[in-house]
Amino acid sequence: MKRFILLGTSLLASSSLLITACGQNTPTVSNSPEATTQPTETSRKEIPIGIALAQTSNVALLGQEGVAGSKIAEKYFNDKGGINGTPIKLVVQDTGGDEAGAINAFQTLITQNKVAGIVGPTLSQQAFSADPIAERAKVPVIAASNTAKGIPEIGDYIARVSSPVTVVAPNSVKAALKINPKIKKVAVFFAQNDAFNKSETEVFQKTVKDQGLDLVTVQKFQTTDTDFQTQATSALNLKPDLIIISGLASDGGNLVRQLRELGYKGLIIGGNGLNSSNIFAVCKTQCNGVLVAQAYSPDHKNAVNEAFRETYLNQYKKQPPQFSAQAFAAVQVYVEALQALDKKTPIKNLSLEQLRTDLNKQLLTGTYDTPIGLISFSPTGEVNQKDFYVAEMKVDKDGNNGQFVYLK
Ligand code: ALA
Repeated sequence: MKRFILLGTSLLASSSLLITACGQNTPTVSNSPEATTQPTETSRKEIPIGIALAQTSNVALLGQEGVAGSKIAEKYFNDKGGINGTPIKLVVQDTGGDEAGAINAFQTLITQNKVAGIVGPTLSQQAFSADPIAERAKVPVIAASNTAKGIPEIGDYIARVSSPVTVVAPNSVKAALKINPKIKKVAVFFAQNDAFNKSETEVFQKTVKDQGLDLVTVQKFQTTDTDFQTQATSALNLKPDLIIISGLASDGGNLVRQLRELGYKGLIIGGNGLNSSNIFAVCKTQCNGVLVAQAYSPDHKNAVNEAFRETYLNQYKKQPPQFSAQAFAAVQVYVEALQALDKKTPIKNLSLEQLRTDLNKQLLTGTYDTPIGLISFSPTGEVNQKDFYVAEMKVDKDGNNGQFVYLK
């Protein structure tokens, strides 16, 4: 018993000194107690926040947009004084596109980079494997793009700013019916190897039935597929008036292209995995008119969105996409929750364990005026968000430039 207490105390003491040690490049990060007793002045001046998003693999088409948004947030909030004078420092770990990569990134951020909280991972499929690791370590996670059903329910430390498929997906079906009230026959496609796409297609299929439409076929594929001739031909033989796709950007883009090449001229809805301007390079002008529901509008009127949009436009020469805005919002939640916490109990006096636990409690109680609008959380960590939109893709001939045009 005594040994247990001694061990606990020494862990607490060393972790307290590690609160602000951060970053892959920070020399003071170490698992050795000797090394942690003397952090440098520099290491004490930053609060590390982990970004676990896909920088490589086909999922990078979505993950890189998240990293872009989080970096804009880091500079924006640090320029405003960070956490009552102490800057935040993002530590980015590439998750790749699979579960193993996400687990590795989470473990590194938690045990080596000693982050206060994590933003990520990119896919719900990855979250169902990686989030339980953060939950067990009592490290807060804010998902910025996970939209499958059941993400906040993974645990007490898991929240999200990305509104779920149940709330977002039906909007695009309603928009399609507004454009073409004669729609009757609907073909649905979904990637069966991905948790989010399985969750999203359920919502789409239910919406189709609730709207009194005929679901004429459900076609399955894999997110790694590039050839969709068999499924596309089977669906087109049934002469659908609307096609709904739940996939990711690369497979989804190729499927749209092949449907158009086979002569399909009707409306197409893409799910949340197609919500990236990176898809334009895949299907070029054949993406034109694809409808995608949005949880963000670049035109949202508030000071933080105007600043975010201007910075993004200057840097990337295009309107900010939803995944960037959501990642910005996730970092903002951490910043404002840390500021509020620090006012109650100076966070420099907290051990790393205490900081993570208190931060998790604090972030669930706040209301945040973000680029995606005013948001708050349910007690389980589900986002409360008000404003949703639908946009259609409009791509230039070369496929390099395009935009999401918001429907009125
Ligand atoms: N919204 C997608 C997911 O949850 C990216 O996996």
